[in-house]
Amino acid sequence: MFETLQTAPTDPILGLTSAFREDTNPDKINLGVGEYRDSDGKTPVFAAVEAAEKRLVDQKLPKTYLPIDGTPEHGVAVRELLFGATSDLAAVTAQAPGGTGALRLAADFFHALFPKARLCLSEPTWANHPKVFQAAGMEVVTYPYFDAATDGLDFEAMTAALETLTPGDIVLLHGCCHNPTGVDPSIEQWKRIGDILADRHLIPFVDFAYQGLGDGLLEDAGGLRELCRPGVELFVASSFSKNFGLYRERIGALTAVASTPEAAQVVLSHLKIAARTSFSNPPAHGSAIVTEILGDSELRKTWEEEVALMRNRINGMRRLLVQSLADRGVEKDLSFIERQRGMFSFSGLNPQQVEILRDKHSIYIVGSGRINVAGITPHNLDYLCDALASIL
Ligand code: LMR
Repeated sequence: MFETLQTAPTDPILGLTSAFREDTNPDKINLGVGEYRDSDGKTPVFAAVEAAEKRLVDQKLPKTYLPIDGTPEHGVAVRELLFGATSDLAAVTAQAPGGTGALRLAADFFHALFPKARLCLSEPTWANHPKVFQAAGMEVVTYPYFDAATDGLDFEAMTAALETLTPGDIVLLHGCCHNPTGVDPSIEQWKRIGDILADRHLIPFVDFAYQGLGDGLLEDAGGLRELCRPGVELFVASSFSKNFGLYRERIGALTAVASTPEAAQVVLSHLKIAARTSFSNPPAHGSAIVTEILGDSELRKTWEEEVALMRNRINGMRRLLVQSLADRGVEKDLSFIERQRGMFSFSGLNPQQVEILRDKHSIYIVGSGRINVAGITPHNLDYLCDALASIL
């Protein structure tokens, strides 16, 4: 049977890392996958994470299974980060293997219980989004999002498209730091989006993978909190890969908000079925780290400072990138790079230019032209800008 198979395509994001590893050019730069690098080009383990891990070792925790939906303490910590400590929303949380695991859990839930519901994604979106939902059997449609003419949000087109969706459709929104464009709605626009979704009985599904990397932990939750009105039903997929640097620990969570606590518990019972038939029960290590940090004032303070450091470095590199390209005589107005938020910048580079960057300069970026700004450092900036200036 296997001899009849064709090779599957390489992953457009993670596949780049493999190609990068094989490249022998000493100047090579990986601006593909969304991993944060410090100014020395390293992806550090957070000091707060290291301290939490030491404590966990000392506690000699068992290796028995976690509950199917993870630990209750983790759920409480996740919801507090999303909605604040005083929120009275009827919400439940199922721990998941990474943000992607949380998306897939939701996809399995929707496909099993609301098979007619379509999943509506921004155009463009994270390359893996359509694949996750389609793999679960969901029909995927799109709404316009990015306006290449202004390098900003095409809010008119976006809202017009949302108005045409069928009640019961699920609308996936990026909570902050839109991947790949770095373009987010303003708070007023979030409010309007919330109005449309509520009026048309559409279910918001917020993919929240970059909380803290935009304008701040609290500020970045502003859009989500605009959607949280009395009676709302919504889903949030959290990822702690980026904001805790726990990429390979695969720690994320799916939070569901329902109109009553009873309905929320019913949703959770179904999420547990989806988890049990997919990965059985979640991995413990990342969840224990996140819970330890968020529940301890000292560790939490260290962590918040580390997130701020990361955010400020990325925004600093945005400014330097724009300045360095201007210094090299690039006339195109690139000020949008400074307005974008989070790890990514949608550079406007076309596939041919992306190819030249890779083949001639050993600079790896995603085919859509997405650059991981968090991979730019004072050491590789000149090499990168020389290459960019030569093709722009
Ligand atoms: C990215 O977009 O680069 C990250 O979310 C990593 C991934 O899994 O694709």
